[in-house]
Amino acid sequence: MSADRPPAEIHHLDLSLTVNGRPVRRRVATTLRLLDFLREELDLTGAKEVCAEGECGACTVLLDGRPVNSCLVLAVECEGAEVVTIEGIDHPVQDALMRTHAVQCGYCFPGMVISAAALLAEEPGLDRQAVREGLAGNICRCTGYAKILDAVELAARRASAHRISGDAGAGGGDDAEAGP
Ligand code: FES
Ligand code: FES
Repeated sequence: MSADRPPAEIHHLDLSLTVNGRPVRRRVATTLRLLDFLREELDLTGAKEVCAEGECGACTVLLDGRPVNSCLVLAVECEGAEVVTIEGIDHPVQDALMRTHAVQCGYCFPGMVISAAALLAEEPGLDRQAVREGLAGNICRCTGYAKILDAVELAARRASAHRISGDAGAGGGDDAEAGP
C-alpha cells in the first residue's frame, strides 16, 4: 500500500538579471528553468522546447555572450547575468537566412540564429566546415542544412569583406548552392 507523500517544498529566491538589455527582477522557484522563466514569466517565446535534454539547440540563448541550452540552465543560476534571446537579436545572419531561402517551418531558427551569431562573433571569417562544426548542436528536421550553411557562410563572407574593406556594400551576390 502506498502512502501519499506531501509535495516537496519549493524554495524561492529573488533573481535580478538583464534580458535583452533590460533589467529584470523576479522572485522565482529555485527549480525554474531559464527556458520557462523566459517563456512564461517574460513572455519571450522565441526560444523553443523540443528535446528538453540539451540535444537539439532549439532553446539556445546567449548567457553572458555564450550560447547555452536554456532547458538545462536554472533561472537562479543567471543572477547578475546578461541574457539575450532571439527577440533581442538583430544580426546579418538573419538577412542571409532570408536571402538563401533557408527557413522552412522555422522552429529551429531562433536557436540556430543565436548559435550562428555567437559563432560569427567569435570567428567572423569561418569556412563551411567550421560553420558545420559550430552549428552541430542545433538540429533542423526540415532543411537538410545546405541552405542554412549557405546563409551562415554568406554572413561570414560579408563580415570578412566588411572588416577588410570597410565597405558596407561589399560581399553581395555570392550565394552559390552547395550540397550538405
Ligand atoms: S530543448 Fe533545449 S536543447 Fe532541446
Ligand atoms: S526549419 Fe523546420 S526544424 Fe528547421
